[in-house]
Amino acid sequence: MRPVGKHVAEAQSDDDAAWDKLLLLAKQPPGSLRGDRRRLGGQPKGHAAAGDGDFPAPSLRDLYLPLLEAGPTVAVAHLGQSLDGRIATASGASHYVTGEQDILHNHRMRALCDAVLIGAGTVRHDDPQLTVRLCSGRNPVRVVVDTDRRLDIGYQVFRDSSAATLLLTAEDKAGATATAARHGTAEVVGIPRLGQGLCPQAIRRTLAARGIARLFIEGGGITVSRFLEAGGLDFLQVTIAPLIIGSGRMGISLPQVRTLSESIRPPVRYFRFGADLMVECDLRGMGA
Ligand SMILES: NC(=O)c1ccc[n+]([C@@H]2O[C@H](COP(=O)([O-])OP(=O)(O)OC[C@H]3O[C@@H](n4cnc5c(N)ncnc54)[C@H](OP(=O)(O)O)[C@@H]3O)[C@@H](O)[C@H]2O)c1
Repeated sequence: MRPVGKHVAEAQSDDDAAWDKLLLLAKQPPGSLRGDRRRLGGQPKGHAAAGDGDFPAPSLRDLYLPLLEAGPTVAVAHLGQSLDGRIATASGASHYVTGEQDILHNHRMRALCDAVLIGAGTVRHDDPQLTVRLCSGRNPVRVVVDTDRRLDIGYQVFRDSSAATLLLTAEDKAGATATAARHGTAEVVGIPRLGQGLCPQAIRRTLAARGIARLFIEGGGITVSRFLEAGGLDFLQVTIAPLIIGSGRMGISLPQVRTLSESIRPPVRYFRFGADLMVECDLRGMGA
């Protein structure tokens, strides 16, 4: 029998090799990978995988390859929540609801996508860098949604130059002059309003026109809910941690429905992240 340490080292090196392969595939346009399963070493789960030898860590392939294959553009949102559906305490503390495997997953999603988008509330509370630090891969473009341009320029995403940053704001707040078109190091882009916020579909079109085909929406709950309500998501990933906060900021929050037949019941996939469970909803074809 081989020593346990050797198994662990081999699994790690398989993960590293699989990850390098996924990063290479992420450089190709979405949609261009479809129909090429054999070359990618992938078969649907439960089938004999003709090319499995070519893809060293099938679990990474099964999780990430379908997201890379989707297209021509794809938007994936993620939330980490408690058993009672909270993504943070009432005061906004959210570090960390989910465990380290889910945090690593967030960094992997950043690395595979062209851009990572967050709402103004998350910038206010977390002041995140939105860079790729826990795995290899390049930093995505950072996109901040701030309808009325209330965030000041003191936040990290507007100060450091580790990645290009776009500030999406209502067209009437974007300003016409060259100075107004910058917010710290970020480029300001005007988007049409929809209800209380910006139009998620217009956000997707604007980003796609700038070459952002794969979009990762990392929160918070208001932002993800607005995209979901507008039919602006292809996939929604919710990682549930075995924790009850009991009060606090909600993850998904949508207008009321009268009967359960009006609720969204999408096809799902399940992934275990240590003590957490990620449920990935496939929203394609479900309409707004
Ligand atoms: N557990 C997790 O997975 C996770 C992930 C991210 C963040 N968080 C936590 O969640 C909290 C923040 O979440 P949140 O739900 O309160 O806020 P949020 O979604 O980060 O930001 C909400 C704000 O963003 C702007 N916004 C978002 N979508 C918009 C759209 N389509 N159009 C226009 N504006 C849009 C609005 O700003 P204005 O009101 O200024 O118009 C809105 O109030 C923080 O405590 C953070 O730590 C948790």
